[in-house]
Amino acid sequence: MGGLDATGPPPGAEVPNGAPRHVAITMDGNGRWARERSLPRLAGHRAGTENIRVVLEALERHGIPYVTIYAFSTENWGRPEAEVEGLIQLLGEALEREVRALHERNVRILHLGSRSRLPAHLAEAIEAGLELTKRNDGLTLCVGFDYGGRREIVDAVRELMAQGATPDEVTEDAIRGRMYLPEVPEPDLIIRTGGDQRLSNFLLWQAAYSELYFTPTLWPDFGQEGVDEAIDAYRRRPRRFGKAPDAD
Ligand code: FPP
Repeated sequence: MGGLDATGPPPGAEVPNGAPRHVAITMDGNGRWARERSLPRLAGHRAGTENIRVVLEALERHGIPYVTIYAFSTENWGRPEAEVEGLIQLLGEALEREVRALHERNVRILHLGSRSRLPAHLAEAIEAGLELTKRNDGLTLCVGFDYGGRREIVDAVRELMAQGATPDEVTEDAIRGRMYLPEVPEPDLIIRTGGDQRLSNFLLWQAAYSELYFTPTLWPDFGQEGVDEAIDAYRRRPRRFGKAPDAD
């Protein structure tokens, strides 16, 4: 079996003031935000897309080096065709509009998920964004688009099997090293807006010891203040990674 990439320091490794090193976000509530305003759902997704910039800037101010956003899940293909097309179009527009600005801010963009089902022009635009920003050493932004946690685990195991792994070689390290982005540390904090309290197939492997933070705030309304509250809540939580509390 080939050597495995190290996956970096353990989750919770220090960043300024005990802030999380990696924050992952499920951006839920765009549809309800639009409905409250008698707007089409896509207007909610548009407002949600605008909010990504606000939240990224707030996370940057906290000195957080890794951010993952869940923009489109493997299950989202089951939404009405017009909504799926709208979300795909929004990603295309966002790439066109934002990639250069992100590059100027030294952000490195990574794609989390599969590109095989996306229209060719979008897959190419994603590739161009990754290529342009790959040497940046500021914040790393992982964009989950056509991502599913179960599929990621299945893909990792399939890769291992294709490499001829014996049962003994199917280890946690071997699977971890075959996740889509093995170089990205596991999320310390997973935020979900919109009131539901579940993972919905997001980072299933990586979330083993993540702190989960749920807020009823709808995604387009979750701005700087929402970020500050989530980070403060994270700082107050003791993390033990399955170990006993320190003796007193
Ligand atoms: C959940 O809200 C949100 C989504 C399924 C899509 C999130 C996508 C974006 C914010 C924009 C696209 C991303 C990029 C990177 C351009 P919902 O529709 O489930 O809301 P609801 O629960 O209120 O119906």
